[in-house]
Amino acid sequence: MSEQTPAEPTAEVKRPERRIRRIAVSTSGGDAPGLNAVIRGVTKSAIQKYHWEVIGILNGLEGLIDTSRILPLTIENVRGILPKGGTILGADSSGYPFNRRVIRDGQAVDLDVRNLIKQNFHYLGLDALVCIGGEGTMAIAHELSQLGIPVVGVPKTIDNDLYGTDYTFGFRTAVQNAMEACDRLHDTAASHHRVMILELMGRYAGWIALNTGISGDADVILIPEIPFDLQEINDAIIRRQRRGKDFSIIVVAEGAHQQGGGAHVAESADERASDMDRLGGIGNWLARELNKGTNMQCRATILGHIQRGGSPTASDRQLATFFGVHATQLIHEGRFDRLTVLKGTEISDIPMEDVIRQYKQVDPEGQMVRYAERMGVCFGRPNHEIQY
Ligand code: F6P
Repeated sequence: MSEQTPAEPTAEVKRPERRIRRIAVSTSGGDAPGLNAVIRGVTKSAIQKYHWEVIGILNGLEGLIDTSRILPLTIENVRGILPKGGTILGADSSGYPFNRRVIRDGQAVDLDVRNLIKQNFHYLGLDALVCIGGEGTMAIAHELSQLGIPVVGVPKTIDNDLYGTDYTFGFRTAVQNAMEACDRLHDTAASHHRVMILELMGRYAGWIALNTGISGDADVILIPEIPFDLQEINDAIIRRQRRGKDFSIIVVAEGAHQQGGGAHVAESADERASDMDRLGGIGNWLARELNKGTNMQCRATILGHIQRGGSPTASDRQLATFFGVHATQLIHEGRFDRLTVLKGTEISDIPMEDVIRQYKQVDPEGQMVRYAERMGVCFGRPNHEIQY
């Protein structure tokens, strides 16, 4: 990442039909470290390079429904936000923004606010919108495009499961946070001769757990892409015991599940959250099962939203900044309905619809998993890399 620079405009780009004067930025879905860096990247490049005005839409797309919910973005008010986690614009992960639930005559009614959003976009004098978010946000952004609103997307998620980009910003910070937690668990696991289980986020992808487990020296890594056999985990822990290692560290992704069609473990549904399951609880379930299987004391830690907080790492700050710069370049070139992506060390862009309803998952037979197995890591399946 350190060598990368945003690509220069290409010769064949489509120019905007009308002059850009004012653009907006919004942050939707769950927050991720680096959101403020994108907001700053968009604002500084828009003002300094193109002399546009920039406004922030507050709380997802809320400011396009209630136009008092906006924040003018200037060089002055984005100063100092690069290292800050969260988003100065507020986020909204409560789902589909085009339906507004209102109470009329004591009844809940869902209003379609698409036209209102379009009218308010023009009322605010906007020429383009930068939507920062995950797969759900990109589906919404693509719908806005189809309504005639010029939109560009910037991919965000700590899960790193967005299709089409090597990395999303926020992911590496989440892994750093989780790895530090793993290091701490090592200390207490060794003192108490326990099995310590660290449950991590990631939805249906194991990127956070895999990267944390490898960098945090976990003995067992469980990810959704490799359904596990409980017996293999018990055996791995007992094998370690026989070699005099009387503690074990397990990193488990919230979406991990048993072989043979084992269900995902999910907490009770949150009515305000989006329609996806709220995963969680596999750590405590494993602790109970492994206690029965190994007779060792087992404890689970659910790291939860700590993974999403705090200052972004150096690489997330860079990636987020350059995504922001590339987004303004796309607007300048009139190339809308596109998403900024990282391919190797280059920032480029792809059509937004390419990433909708597609997820990037860990390859169960890929190099990362095989090399980790060669290091003795148990993935809850027979390890064909090592002869025990
Ligand atoms: O997609 C990011 C993420 O943090 C997932 O890893 C996790 O499953 C989910 O969001 C949690 O969502 P919420 O913040 O709504 O609890």
